[in-house]
Amino acid sequence: MKKTIILGIESSCDDTSAAVISNGVILSNVIASQKVHEAYGGVVPELASRCHQQNIVPVVSEAIKRAGIDKSQINAVAFTRGPGLMGSLLVGTSFAKGFSSALRIPMVDVNHLQAHVLAHFIKESEDDNSQPSFPFLCLLVSGGNSQIIKVSSYDKMEVIGQTIDDAAGEAFDKCAKVMGLGYPGGPVVDRLAKDGDPKRFKFNKPHIPGYNYSFSGLKTSFLYMLRDNLKDNPNFIEENKNDLCASLQFTIVEILMDKLRKAAKDLNIKELAVAGGVSANSAVRAAFEEHSKKYGWKIHLPKFAFTTDNAAMVAITGYYKYLDGEFCSQDAAPFARVEL
Ligand code: KG4
Repeated sequence: MKKTIILGIESSCDDTSAAVISNGVILSNVIASQKVHEAYGGVVPELASRCHQQNIVPVVSEAIKRAGIDKSQINAVAFTRGPGLMGSLLVGTSFAKGFSSALRIPMVDVNHLQAHVLAHFIKESEDDNSQPSFPFLCLLVSGGNSQIIKVSSYDKMEVIGQTIDDAAGEAFDKCAKVMGLGYPGGPVVDRLAKDGDPKRFKFNKPHIPGYNYSFSGLKTSFLYMLRDNLKDNPNFIEENKNDLCASLQFTIVEILMDKLRKAAKDLNIKELAVAGGVSANSAVRAAFEEHSKKYGWKIHLPKFAFTTDNAAMVAITGYYKYLDGEFCSQDAAPFARVEL
């Protein structure tokens, strides 16, 4: 059988990644994360694009080497065109253009959000048949997005609910920041929550109609609760860190699952997936497992390597677009903001 080999490039935020897939089967996925931002408590766009410039060539050559192929075997190069940080996107986009014109192969532009969803279609081997079947609902939760997406086919996705303010990852990160837990705080909250009581503190939950989310009220409620308690006890955070993290995480997961459950019930869809950075969270994963048992959901939890930004998801999206003959031209410009 003829192999279609796609090189994927991801550079939308602070991870430089390249991956190779062959007929949907992953051959390599190399990610260079940028530690430089930790000292600033968030991603510094100018530093991110400079790091991408340094990383892109070695990351791509490593991905091709690990895939065990020669670059002449690559059929197309897929790259993240947006949304993301403009300076970061420009590095991946420019690299893809150079690569495509040097090898005289087509370029495929990829929407980063669509790629997170299609990460569920990356095959580990030829006989891996664990992919979701259409239609399914995907909860996309990251530092920049909280969306419920109805996925009807590889290229037909409808956002049926989304946050009207902060994303779930932002809620984790901002609350972690006020507790002095560093950046990004999500994984730290997850770790500390393991030894905490999730019912110890109660926070306001939003009352938003439909399937939309809101996390800014929770952030404020968390902040005020800390402020009030710190007045009486300056060591309040230190003494209650585990319970604070567990209660915060419990509330975020409840907010996420309440709306997802409602959407699944209303649309009568029992196939559910989760994607994006926050899908690495242990309580999110446990909630999906619980819902699977209780409501008979068929669930799809991504491998940890595919929860954060990675080029394998870009390559798989590029693969399906390639099969449909959806290429882009050399004058394609990246876009910082774009809907699904
Ligand atoms: O998808 P992603 O890598 O990129 C952005 O959208 O920026 O998501 C990053 C987000 C951050 O907010 C991070 O704190 C969160 O995902 N995150 C987690 C966990 N791992 C990453 N949040 C909670 N628990 C985790 N284990």
